[in-house]
Amino acid sequence: MEPIRAVQWSPGGDAVRIIDQRRLPGEFIERDLRSLHDVCDAIATLAVRGAPAIGVAAAMGLVTSLQDFRSDDRHAFAIMLESHARALAAMRPTAVNLAWAIGRMRQRAAATKAAPQNVLAALRVEATAILDEDRAMCEAIGRHGQRFLPSGARVLTHCNAGALATAGIGTALAPVYVAHAAGRSVSVLAGETRPLLQGARLTAWELSRAGIPVQVITDGMGASAMQNGAVDVVIVGADRIAANGDVANKIGTYSLAVAAHHHNIPFVVCAPSSTIDPRTANGGGIVVEMRHEAEVRSLAGVPVAAHGAGIWNPAFDITPAALITAIVTDHGVRLPPYSFTS
Ligand code: MRU
Repeated sequence: MEPIRAVQWSPGGDAVRIIDQRRLPGEFIERDLRSLHDVCDAIATLAVRGAPAIGVAAAMGLVTSLQDFRSDDRHAFAIMLESHARALAAMRPTAVNLAWAIGRMRQRAAATKAAPQNVLAALRVEATAILDEDRAMCEAIGRHGQRFLPSGARVLTHCNAGALATAGIGTALAPVYVAHAAGRSVSVLAGETRPLLQGARLTAWELSRAGIPVQVITDGMGASAMQNGAVDVVIVGADRIAANGDVANKIGTYSLAVAAHHHNIPFVVCAPSSTIDPRTANGGGIVVEMRHEAEVRSLAGVPVAAHGAGIWNPAFDITPAALITAIVTDHGVRLPPYSFTS
């Protein structure tokens, strides 16, 4: 079966090709992004989403969006580069991978004292490295995560931290894919993840496609599944990991961690090193993205909240390090007490 490529170069290399995740699972549509507007819009509307994937898409999008300016003089090109970099980095505040990837691109540009054509060529090399490294980090996470997946493991996950959320095989789902490829039995409970249903739409889609048993539950069912002995391990991804191990991830993650702690079930976070933010001391310093109330007010275009009710729509929550059994990165398995330094 063809691997899922959530972000890749288009065949000519002049566009960022993404799978439009707003349309899944109903339709599989790929889109080619070229301009700054294309890339910013795709990130803001979650056409491309998941912390690693938006970092990769932004780095590649910086290259494609600057193509039309390669004949400018050096000064004008530098100004354009900085304005595009800023715009892209500002699209989503919580996932540190976005700022991390743009930071790498800025550094590469600064180190290339040359004409715009050559700066652009260097930026393309850097964006491709970010893409390739993300794939490799996913594979490594998959290998390191095996120790949490005994044969027959029943995994509860939240949101989508799979292939669709990265350039490779995912983070939280990477150990699941590796175990499945090795012929070991593993099954997944996917929390549906209101308001945008990344679990029901995306995690269930990609696991079913791979032939891995997956059952969708509503977000309120996770604790009960644990109480009923249906969960061996909870595995989630992360949007940002603070120096002390506090983790920002999709809203609803924290309540699963509390329930897992109560039921003595391992709660494991899988993320690439690009998601670690040693400069943020703890979860209190992480900016949580607030999204539009319309996402909660209606579901698939049908109003579900009573007219006149207020809406609160934070996209992420913070799980304290004390509730996390292990953090699996591409470098290996970290156990508490956590301390991430640069
Ligand atoms: O708003 P989203 O869909 O981008 O949120 C995604 C998540 O919260 C994922 O769990 C996280 O980014 C890790 S993806 C490997």
